[in-house]
Amino acid sequence: MSLKLGDTAPNFEVETTQGKISFHDWIGDSWCFFFSHPADFTPVCTTEMGRTSQLAQEFEKRNVKPLGLSTDSVDEHNKWILDVNDTQNTNLEFPIVADADTEIAKQYEMIHPGESSTAAVRSVFIIDPNNKIRLTMTYPMQVGRNFDEILRVLDALQTVDAKGVATPADWQPGGKVIIPPSVTNEEAEKLFPQGWDEQRSYLRLTDV
Ligand code: BEZ
Repeated sequence: MSLKLGDTAPNFEVETTQGKISFHDWIGDSWCFFFSHPADFTPVCTTEMGRTSQLAQEFEKRNVKPLGLSTDSVDEHNKWILDVNDTQNTNLEFPIVADADTEIAKQYEMIHPGESSTAAVRSVFIIDPNNKIRLTMTYPMQVGRNFDEILRVLDALQTVDAKGVATPADWQPGGKVIIPPSVTNEEAEKLFPQGWDEQRSYLRLTDV
């Protein structure tokens, strides 16, 4: 059965490059950017790991812990991290799961047999501090992810939670947000005293 938005992210215990973790305990009160990649010592993955590492402060600012995964061993990960650091000019410090037996990749449906029977595709799971899955994305093996979008969607989810709003297409932090249709105008007056631009009764834009 596939994992759906709103589901609790399955818990697991596993060896990583930072030692053994119990997933839910490790997430703690943070958000998690859990992402798989096909294999160590491959070019696209090397750039993605480098980018995640370069963005460490951006993730930390948002209270987000990155966690990588591939179906390689801790030894392989550790050797590869030296290459990532060298070629991407970074110092990778977030943990990478060693899922050599593919148990977690299968549980999270990161293995798509039409692509490979042993390597994970580029899955993304954004998991909130209640361990709920809030976003999933799947990229093909040949296409590196857009990390600006990953940070943007984290900002959007955290704004949605904090302000009780929705975000329009291509929203960026600081941009106008949407008052959900479930909120009546009477309620909106209390929640959004700054007012709103009512383009339709169901399309009300405000600032937060
Ligand atoms: C890569 O990371 O470069 C890659 C991995 C698996 C298939 C294709 C590309």
